[in-house]
Order: sequence, then C-alpha cells, then structure tokens
Amino acid sequence: MNEKFIQLSKELKHRPILEKALVHFSNLPLIAIDCGCGAGNESAYLLSKGFNVHAFDISIDAQKVCAERFKDNSKFSFYHESFEDFNFPSASLIIASSSLFFCDPSYFYSVIKRIINALPEGGILVVDLLGTHDEWVMREPKKFIGFTYQDIGDLFLCEFNLLFHKEIDEKLPLLSGYIKSWHLHMLILQKK
Ligand SMILES: C[S@@+](CC[C@H](N)C(=O)[O-])C[C@H]1O[C@@H](n2cnc3c(N)ncnc32)[C@H](O)[C@@H]1O
Repeated sequence: MNEKFIQLSKELKHRPILEKALVHFSNLPLIAIDCGCGAGNESAYLLSKGFNVHAFDISIDAQKVCAERFKDNSKFSFYHESFEDFNFPSASLIIASSSLFFCDPSYFYSVIKRIINALPEGGILVVDLLGTHDEWVMREPKKFIGFTYQDIGDLFLCEFNLLFHKEIDEKLPLLSGYIKSWHLHMLILQKK
C-alpha cells in the first residue's frame, strides 16, 4: 500500500469487529499483534485499551506513518516485516484486518501454524479471508486463496472455536474509489 492510501486510511476508525472480539477477551496479558497494520487504526484502538501492540507491515509507508503516529507510545513496536518472515511473539490477541489475504499462498498455511503457536488457550484471532468468488480470487487464483465456509471449518475448527462469522458478498469501493466485488469472510476465533 503506498503512502497516499496509508494516509487516506489513517482517517478511518478501527473496525467494529475489534470491539466485538474484545468482549470475549478475559484474563490474559494485554499483548496484541496487528498483522499488516497499515496506518495503525486497529493498533491505536488497542493501545487506547491498554494493550502492548506488536505491529508489522511489508510497506515502508506504513512504517513511516506508524512511526510518526505512535512516536510517544512505548507500548507500540513496529516491525518492517511480512507475514512470510514475521516471527510471531506470544500474544493474547492477533488481528489481521484485510491483510492476510495478501500473503503469498505458498506461505499461508505455515503462517496459520505460527499464529496458532503464538496464541495461548483462550487467545483470540480476528481475521478476514477472501471467499471463492471474490473478484481478486477469480481473476488471480494463483495469487489469492478463496475459502468456502467448509474450508474455514477445516482450517480452524480443530484448534479454535468460531465465535463470529460474517460473510460479505457485495460490490464495495476500495479506498481508490474502484468498485470491487468482495466475497469476504470476517472471523473471530478463540483458541481451545
Ligand atoms: C488493506 S490494508 C489493511 C491495513 C489495516 N490492517 C487496516 O485494516 O486498516 C492491507 C495491508 O497489508 C499490508 N500487506 C500486504 N501484503 C503484506 C504481507 N505479505 N505481509 C505483511 N503486510 C502486508 C499492506 O502493506 C497494507 O498495509
């Protein structure tokens, strides 16, 4: 994501799904990982709730914006890294808001394993995955993995309880203004 888009997204609020996830959060250390954090909107909310936040993003512009935005906050750490190489520290909450689907598909399942290993029992994962008839999946199936509800069960339900699932299947604008056909699964999962 380039600086213009990072700056535009900085004007947005954190996603409501994050508040929903925190309702299920109990009695664990306030440590979170914000994966593909962009302008840090989710990180800002988590910091306001007392979390220590480890945030990473592949984009140098995300790094610039977050460095400036959180320069006085010792509870925020930014790593200029990608899903493919990030060494997940232990954390009670992991959020990948509109980011994990950009991970190289050949690394996807190893990233899921690293996420599972980083979470304790009761830890929460908030993640968006693309559905099988998302425009990007249809156009570039080697670059984007599309999931059915059944696939999501197969991927997560040995290790997690599914607390929330919302499926979006509609045309919505990207920040650029381009109207895209989204097929998206928004998930809150709790490690067993
Ligand atoms: C749509 S933005 C979402 C930003 C933020 N999570 C939010 O919800 O506002 C996607 C972010 O994922 C980052 N990203 C893309 N591919 C990545 C990768 N392989 N590893 C880490 N971050 C990645 C982009 O740089 C961008 O900041």
